[in-house]
Amino acid sequence: MGDFAKGLEGVTAAETNMSFIDGQEGRLEYVGIGIDDLAEHSTFEETVFLLWNNRLPTASELSDFRKELSKRYALPAGLARRVAEIPTTAQPMHMLRTLVSEMSLYDTHPNDNDVEQARRKAMNILGQAPTIVAMFDRCRRGLPVIEPDPSLGFSANFLYMLNGEKPTETMARAFDICMITHADHGLNNSTFAARVVISTLSDVYSAITAAIGSLRGPLHGGANEGVMHMLNEIPSVDDAEAYIMGKLERREKIMGFGHRVYKAKDPRATYLMTLAEQLAKDTGNADLYAKSHKIEQVMEREVAAKGIYPNVDFYSATTYHCIGLRLDLFTPMFAMSRIGGWSGHVIEQLSDNRLFRPAAAYVGPHDAPYVPIDQR
Ligand code: SDX
Repeated sequence: MGDFAKGLEGVTAAETNMSFIDGQEGRLEYVGIGIDDLAEHSTFEETVFLLWNNRLPTASELSDFRKELSKRYALPAGLARRVAEIPTTAQPMHMLRTLVSEMSLYDTHPNDNDVEQARRKAMNILGQAPTIVAMFDRCRRGLPVIEPDPSLGFSANFLYMLNGEKPTETMARAFDICMITHADHGLNNSTFAARVVISTLSDVYSAITAAIGSLRGPLHGGANEGVMHMLNEIPSVDDAEAYIMGKLERREKIMGFGHRVYKAKDPRATYLMTLAEQLAKDTGNADLYAKSHKIEQVMEREVAAKGIYPNVDFYSATTYHCIGLRLDLFTPMFAMSRIGGWSGHVIEQLSDNRLFRPAAAYVGPHDAPYVPIDQR
């Protein structure tokens, strides 16, 4: 039996062609292409094609992929009715986990697991998750539901369904960059959850549902909402230092900082910082960015030596806020993007499967007697 590695820290549990992370240098590549190049030049649809096919698409392949995805924006009628029935007080990540699971009820072959069927299910979930989130948000705000517009790309269509008007090019592009930078990231906790579930030859819906459950956690995807709560708690940039120092003294974790793999600044945080700064200026949220920048300076001085740097969640929070998203939709945004990565890993696992079944080191008693209840 192998050595015990708590939290599987440092253990390699799968091979992947999708994303490469250099934690020391702070570098991330999808199929060998640097994340900055993809954020600069790619689109979310092209990035998902890259992750699923291990190469960039030709122009006609990309056009076909986008058409294939946009055909799947609309929900089955029964599922649309279910979205409208969800309590308006439900937390969005619980809603999304529940309804992605429910998608399997409308699939005539929910258990089919050959790679082509898995890809079809993945397209369904990728296309319909944004519609579910937008429809739920409109219903809970008492606003009319906006049907998806298949002529729009993934990001523009989501913002259109959410806000009831076509987004500006700037906002659609900013959102698309968030989707690109969140799409995949090695064997993070939620991706591992998806691979563990599919390794029993269970179904894609179960695997993605498990991943959504994992991502909600504040130590993982839930951190972007934690960052926004923190920024809202700090009255002004002048209060940021004392606020952070107080949390550090109480040994409280600062959301949006630290990482199991990165011991340098997360390259996604670097890219999103620039985007957040520009968006904050354009939308009258300069104070929000100023607080974030001050927090980063204090953390650099206090804990960078321990390898604690901003991660992807730190500046995605400001970006999502400036795009106009409600705070409790931040983690569902992460999920919408990561469905691309999770699906790719599900397909990789199915293509070369081995059931995950690690060992547990037994530390309990042996040869214990069974004591009859009247003698206990
Ligand atoms: C994501 O895995 C992925 O790739 C995830 C992700 C992806 O794309 O899928 O990158 C997305 O989940 C990013 C992480 C988002 N989570 C947060 O921002 C929550 C705050 N961060 C921490 O909880 C923590 O940094 C983790 C969970 C992210 C990583 O934790 P580890 O590797 O288990 O490290 P640890 O908790 O053992 O901390 C090591 C030391 C401790 O100090 P000591 O007890 O040794 O003195 O560093 C300290 C920790 O207290 N520390 C922090 C800190 N993170 C670690 N101290 C203050 N603030 C923090 N954020």
